[in-house]
Amino acid sequence: MNGDLESLVLSEKQIAEKVKEAAAWLDEKFKDAKTPPLAVSVLKGSVFFFCDLVRAMNTPVELDFMTVSSYGNSAESSGIPKIIMDLSVSVQGRDVILVEDIVDSGHTLVRMRELISGRGAKSFTVVTLFDKPSRRKAPVKADYSCFEVGDDFIVGYGLDYAQQYRSLPYVGVLKPGIYGK
Ligand code: IMP
Ligand code: MG
Repeated sequence: MNGDLESLVLSEKQIAEKVKEAAAWLDEKFKDAKTPPLAVSVLKGSVFFFCDLVRAMNTPVELDFMTVSSYGNSAESSGIPKIIMDLSVSVQGRDVILVEDIVDSGHTLVRMRELISGRGAKSFTVVTLFDKPSRRKAPVKADYSCFEVGDDFIVGYGLDYAQQYRSLPYVGVLKPGIYGK
């Protein structure tokens, strides 16, 4: 394990199991869909989860990407998520599956929901790898959450601290000394 981590949260094998379960849930939900849902990756954090998830699904989906930033280089959300890169297609009349790395304060999710519903999506389904319910500031909930975590700052499998650790294939708790807690 990377020396900056104090404990492991999910191993590669455990992540693969969570991905399979989430994919099965989505397959069941969209089994009667007439047109392929649009799966949206909220970059950069959800990149690996997204790629693994859509490949584990049997339902045909279209893919799109959006880059949202709320953190700068700190471990605390600024509360004002910024759209750095928008979607490339219209969501009008589409079933949208939003794929998130983690729902923390909930600010990002609220912003995404307003944006995507406001553009006339037919439905909006949120799948997140991690949920930190104890940190919620906005009244939102993912439709499917793979794993609940406490108030620890976690990194790996897409999740970063100051853009580091994203490429670790597992997820662990960052030693608080590293981010000055
Ligand atoms: P929210 O808007 O506060 O819900 O934050 C959402 C974003 O904050 C996520 O998409 C992550 O990029 C980031 N984030 C929240 N908690 C963590 C964490 O423990 N590790 C790494 N990034 C996190
Ligand atoms: Mg981040």
